[in-house]
Amino acid sequence: MSIPPTVLCDFDDLDDPGAKGFVVDRNGARLRIFVVRRDGRVFGYVNSCPHVGAPLNLEDDAFLDLFKANILCANHFALFEIHSGRCVRGPCSGRGLEPFPVAVRDGKVEVAAASRAPDRPEEPRHRSGSGKS
Ligand code: FES
Repeated sequence: MSIPPTVLCDFDDLDDPGAKGFVVDRNGARLRIFVVRRDGRVFGYVNSCPHVGAPLNLEDDAFLDLFKANILCANHFALFEIHSGRCVRGPCSGRGLEPFPVAVRDGKVEVAAASRAPDRPEEPRHRSGSGKS
């Protein structure tokens, strides 16, 4: 059985650098995620700060710092590397965002197949970035 792809947005809908938030279904539950495009690559993360588990953004799609160099948690101003999700400054320094696998295919940003498998016990812990193909 093949599972149809879950398209999040067009690749060109994302500024470079830029980010967008989404709500997806994971094992029947709603999950807030966001994707970041930078240098032609797209990275996906669960929208939950490792500090206290709150969403990182206070406004729609506001996931980057002023310089668009890092992911920003607007609650207590933690900064995270875009490519790794690792916190480099703030109360959760050294911890990381939970990756959410995404892929770019035919100009669309999609939930990667590994995230869409039914009855999967938990998310893989591998890196979520994906280059434009
Ligand atoms: S909730 Fe993100 S830094 Fe505190």
